[in-house]
Amino acid sequence: MLNSHAFDLWADDYDKSVGLSDEDGSYPFAGYRNLLNEIYNHVLSHTGKTVLDIGFGTGTLTTKLYEQGCRIYGQDFSARMIEIAQAKMPQASLYQGDFSHGLVEELKQNRYDSIIATYSLHHLTDEQKVRFLTELLPLLREDGCIYIGDVAFATRAELDKCREQAGDGWDQDEVYFVFDELRKSFPNMRFEPVSHCAGLLTLKNDG
Ligand SMILES: C[S@@+](CC[C@H](N)C(=O)[O-])C[C@H]1O[C@@H](n2cnc3c(N)ncnc32)[C@H](O)[C@@H]1O
Repeated sequence: MLNSHAFDLWADDYDKSVGLSDEDGSYPFAGYRNLLNEIYNHVLSHTGKTVLDIGFGTGTLTTKLYEQGCRIYGQDFSARMIEIAQAKMPQASLYQGDFSHGLVEELKQNRYDSIIATYSLHHLTDEQKVRFLTELLPLLREDGCIYIGDVAFATRAELDKCREQAGDGWDQDEVYFVFDELRKSFPNMRFEPVSHCAGLLTLKNDG
């Protein structure tokens, strides 16, 4: 797994490298912009505009939401990512913390209309994902929703196919979402593919 230092080093080049992979439709970032756009539209369609971003990076998505008047909270473990995002969103409450150990205390005190996580939670094992999502669900306000945009597949067979196509480019350290496996822990989770390797997972706190 990449540690916080590795993300510090990637921070200044991050937007460019993601853009290149998205434009040529290749794994891992094919569909990135469409996915972020979709989450943007969902979040703004809520009446409430309090948003928690897990692993916000350079703030590509949250900055757009911030500019639309959303109250932004976030957690990331990279000091450089936080510095870049905070400069774009001076009023946002951004905290440094490793989400493999859960949320920082300050963020547990609030309730959120939308919790978003784009291309970040694949740094958790499947077991850690279930534990973390279970911790996040009670922090949603009524009608709130968790939006996960990431490298994600409907089935393990689809993941295997993508891995074969990616060959040496496949990142062995990342643990991608497989919807029909995760749904066993969260029966009301929904999945919408946006490219051959990316999709939107949504989760509400309605049992
Ligand atoms: C690939 S970037 C995604 C950034 C942004 N959400 C986006 O969609 O462009 C992953 C982000 O998650 C953060 N991250 C990865 N593992 C983390 C962890 N265990 N705890 C906190 N942040 C983490 C990294 O520092 C980085 O900013």
